[in-house]
Amino acid sequence: MRYVETGAGRLPVIAVGCMGIARLSKVECAAFVDGAMQNGLNFFDHADIYGGGACESLFGEAVRSLNVAREHMFIQSKCGIVPGKMYDFSKEHIISSVEGSLKRLKTEYLDSLLLHRPDVLMQPEEVAEAFDALERSGKVRYFGVSNMHPYQIELIKSAAGQRLFADQLQFSPAHAGMISCGTEVNMQTEAGVCRDGYILDYCRLHGMVVQAWSPLRYGFFEGIFIDDPKFEKLNEALAKAGKKYGIAKSAAAAAWLLRHPAKIQVVTGTANLAHLLEIAAGAETEITREEWYEIYKAAGHILP
Ligand SMILES: NC(=O)c1ccc[n+]([C@@H]2O[C@H](COP(=O)([O-])OP(=O)(O)OC[C@H]3O[C@@H](n4cnc5c(N)ncnc54)[C@H](OP(=O)(O)O)[C@@H]3O)[C@@H](O)[C@H]2O)c1
Repeated sequence: MRYVETGAGRLPVIAVGCMGIARLSKVECAAFVDGAMQNGLNFFDHADIYGGGACESLFGEAVRSLNVAREHMFIQSKCGIVPGKMYDFSKEHIISSVEGSLKRLKTEYLDSLLLHRPDVLMQPEEVAEAFDALERSGKVRYFGVSNMHPYQIELIKSAAGQRLFADQLQFSPAHAGMISCGTEVNMQTEAGVCRDGYILDYCRLHGMVVQAWSPLRYGFFEGIFIDDPKFEKLNEALAKAGKKYGIAKSAAAAAWLLRHPAKIQVVTGTANLAHLLEIAAGAETEITREEWYEIYKAAGHILP
């Protein structure tokens, strides 16, 4: 496995996203987690809301049945979304959400806690108080954010003493606004409009990890681009790179994300071990500059 040095230590560049594991039985989930661990994939991404809590509960049960030493895993969860209702970064909500996650995951601590989506009504001092309490009590080791732009991060940093080591953001060849706003600077094109405050450059400047969620999707959960005829050229380019390096198209997509010089972790979404190991092969592959641009253009982006 390839690793990236981060503010939360040395982490595998492939993170196992657990949003979709609720469809597995406990035995299947244990086999999935065990298979991941055997292949060096020991970083697991959760959220309090995945499956309404069922994903964390199932994972906690499965890990208990495996008897894995806790320190051999990196378990991340997120909080701040109250589904269908609101976002909530109040001190009470952050702390009670973490306590719920710990209970479901059957663990004493989270390696990392991310604030899931920016709460418009957040008070940075309250977030800081929650982080301090969670850090002091040993319930959370590292902190980060998700779906935030640079000024939201700066706002939290204005009060919180903890380093924010990661921003988890949607990123794939077919969802690459973070790239196109940097290639189409000062143009009248739609893709040149920056929708994220230049977060990719910010993360590079501040040594933050970009955790790329939905590495195989396009739109907001519209679909998977692998084998989708709407993305014929992208599939051809991924297949071409895949053939050269002996990897699957999904792995070529991961290799494309990891070829970017920012600190990147690819957060996979599969609950199928064979698919996970296919993608993980992308971490061992360094595609060329030419191949990177070929895949970018094949996804429909322009190079002015
Ligand atoms: N921070 C946020 O706001 C946010 C939002 C969404 C997700 N996330 C995190 O990001 C993770 C990944 O998100 P995602 O589920 O959208 O990821 P994804 O990897 O883009 O999509 C995963 C889906 O693709 C399917 N798939 C189809 N063909 C595949 C192939 N050849 N290889 C692998 N998968 C294939 C998988 O099905 P199979 O299971 O059958 O393989 C699964 O349903 C989540 O688990 C979660 O941890 C974070």
